[in-house]
Amino acid sequence: MRFPIYRPRRLRQNAALRALVRETEWSVSDLVMPLFVREGSRLRKPISSMPGQCQLSVDELVKEAGRTAKLGVPAVILFGIPDKKDEKASGAYAANGIVSKAVRALKKEFPELVVICDVCLCEYMSHGHCGVVRKSGRDFRIDNDATLGLLAKSALAYAEAGADIVAPSDMMDGRVAAIRAALDETGFPDTPIMSYAAKFASAYYGPFREAAESPPQFGDRRTYQMDYANAEEALREVALDIEEGADIVMVKPAFGYQDLIWRVKEKFRYPVACYNVSGEYAMVKAAAQNGWLDEKQVVLEMLTGFRRSGADIILTYWAQQAGRWLNE
Ligand code: PBG
Ligand code: ZN
Repeated sequence: MRFPIYRPRRLRQNAALRALVRETEWSVSDLVMPLFVREGSRLRKPISSMPGQCQLSVDELVKEAGRTAKLGVPAVILFGIPDKKDEKASGAYAANGIVSKAVRALKKEFPELVVICDVCLCEYMSHGHCGVVRKSGRDFRIDNDATLGLLAKSALAYAEAGADIVAPSDMMDGRVAAIRAALDETGFPDTPIMSYAAKFASAYYGPFREAAESPPQFGDRRTYQMDYANAEEALREVALDIEEGADIVMVKPAFGYQDLIWRVKEKFRYPVACYNVSGEYAMVKAAAQNGWLDEKQVVLEMLTGFRRSGADIILTYWAQQAGRWLNE
């Protein structure tokens, strides 16, 4: 007697069959392109640890965003590098701060483009920390509650400039509530918040800190970013941000944290973003430059993996390139 046996290879015999049963689809419309903006004009300053990525002056940023949008990528997220840093992150919320200027220029040229502003203080602080620093002798601590007002001011400045979404990445307790209240009180109840909800203290942010010129000058970020060993705590962080009013919750990094993308999606059923961070980009670029990996194939596999894990939105330095690959 012959038993019908399941032979999975039946449905892999050719490309058409494989396409019919393919489970995970994604497109450029799920991607967000991170861009770095600084003062100046006609400036494209390459970031050595992130081949293909540059710090851009506002005029060049507008061109780069235009190319990105033309490929079908719906959104960009902006990081600013101010000319001057201080101990209260003035450049983050100044009326003519670099990010506010960039937002105004982008929204004027491309009203349809979704402009997301990262909200954090590290790029604007002389010490490079994401919050207000209190020193006592050789020790220091981060003043959580004194930081909230500065974050709210920054988010408000970006909303006023025309930002479509604000994205706090600082990891202070209570910052989503503080930003939500500030936006609501000043006539921006419809500006969504994408919170970096489960953001881990990660060595994979190394290249970003070159890109944003924001490494901490002393200490590290482990009193505010999460311990990468903790998953239950990540779910509590996400729950808090949702209670405080987050509209989209992010897991960061993405690669190596896909268990959390999945768990966050399953538990909360909210729009989930993941950040394919600078170190993930740098690793693949380095291997590809050595001829050890096929960049296109690896990246398509990586991004599909994030979608399969439950991410609705992927922030990736490959957004523009993926647009080109998918249009090939
Ligand atoms: C700022 C911020 C960082 C990243 C996004 N926003 C750096 C950090 O927290 O140290 C990392 C992004 C990347 O590595 O691509 N708080
Ligand atoms: Zn920061």
